[in-house]
Amino acid sequence: MSKNTASAALVSAALLSSTAMADTTVIRSSFLHFLQDPSQVNNIFDAYQYLEDGLLVIENGHIKTLTAFDAQTAQQYSSIIDKRGKLIIPGFIDTHTHYAQTQMIAAYGEQLLTWLNSYTFPTEEQFSDIDHARKISQFFIHQLLKNGTTSALVFGTVHPQSVDALFETALAKNMRLIAGKVMMDRNAPAELLDTPESSYQDSKNLIEKWHNKGRLQYAITPRFAPTSTPAQLQLAGKLKAQYPDVYVHTHLSENKDEIAWVKSLFPEREGYFDVYDHYGLTGKKSIFAHAIHLTDKEWDSFQQTDSVIAFCPTSNLFLGSGLFDLTTADSKKVRVGLGTDVGAGTSFSPLQTLNEAYKVMQLQGQKLSPFKGLYMATLGGATSLSIDDKVGNFIPGKEADFVVLDWAATDLQQLRFSYSNGIEDKLFALIMLGDDRNIFETFVAGKSVYQRDTLNLR
Ligand code: GUN
Ligand code: ZN
Repeated sequence: MSKNTASAALVSAALLSSTAMADTTVIRSSFLHFLQDPSQVNNIFDAYQYLEDGLLVIENGHIKTLTAFDAQTAQQYSSIIDKRGKLIIPGFIDTHTHYAQTQMIAAYGEQLLTWLNSYTFPTEEQFSDIDHARKISQFFIHQLLKNGTTSALVFGTVHPQSVDALFETALAKNMRLIAGKVMMDRNAPAELLDTPESSYQDSKNLIEKWHNKGRLQYAITPRFAPTSTPAQLQLAGKLKAQYPDVYVHTHLSENKDEIAWVKSLFPEREGYFDVYDHYGLTGKKSIFAHAIHLTDKEWDSFQQTDSVIAFCPTSNLFLGSGLFDLTTADSKKVRVGLGTDVGAGTSFSPLQTLNEAYKVMQLQGQKLSPFKGLYMATLGGATSLSIDDKVGNFIPGKEADFVVLDWAATDLQQLRFSYSNGIEDKLFALIMLGDDRNIFETFVAGKSVYQRDTLNLR
């Protein structure tokens, strides 16, 4: 063998072994994903890509390519998973939820402040017990995956071990999840109170232990202004300054009595948003749930600080909190993600959550197109959480989190589907009629982690 032939043989052996070593999955199906916010483009076709017959190639848990199917390209792959007849979209991203409230979803009859005292606080007390926290963490993560949600921003409870339990469970599934321990040092039962110093130290320890471990990230999580003293908010701000890469996650302007209470507790501040702003808790990695009753000045502050809103329609209706003004958010280019807000929210399903979002817009004389809705639940959520460089669509290099949807899972959906025309109409019907029954399979980092037909669906 000549020297040249020998080295060519070596090169091709190396190529062969690197290809053989790559963990490759190839799927043929219909695909939909977003490239831009539909409310910010002149031509809707610039916002999304729909491939009726497409081929997705995943390598080592990341997107390699998404192309229209063609037989010649397909030939190079020894096996192709055939999901024709289904629709594959990026995994849903839930930008606000409370795992510890799973067991008290659908608690009757109260608005925010009495709901917290009557139902929420007694439930959260149980999370001092790590075994209980582990049990509910597993149930919660399963519910996320069963509903097609592959990433979420999650409240723990005041107990640091509640966050350990959730992160352990998410790490085992290799999920991209953001969570934090509640900071709360007043206006709650004594069993649920920390102190400014303990909340600072516990949160710091959790950041050191979990932030950027696998795909996990940490959020500094003061519950809301009424349950934190100025001293605690100040230490929360200090922590954010020490760890600028971590998130801030809290509630804002959800309920009129809550807003009046904040005014009385912080008379020296201009308003509710200003409380958080004063303590250094606003900014591009700060996510505020609800933001229903904002003043014009507060809208401007959102814009100026590049802070983010989690729109939680089922919760906002369930607690009678009010109608979120998505149109103003869009006109100001404030980032908005979709939040289920379980347990004030009444469903884990982003489809059901969009169903209610549509009605919230109708009550304000506005429309929510299925494109905008599904954008918010995928790429818009990723943008809101500043993880759009990693997930949210099928751009090559991104992590392969996605969901295989059944267009029509029930007889009613099938009838409606058979009379539908065009992609927009089909997607709208899917949002309005769909739920966890439409989630056929969920993939996290290229691996199938939930299959509807093979799991016990109790
Ligand atoms: N404001 C403060 N705490 C909570 C909570 O747990 N849920 C909701 N919806 N709002 C809150
Ligand atoms: Zn909430």
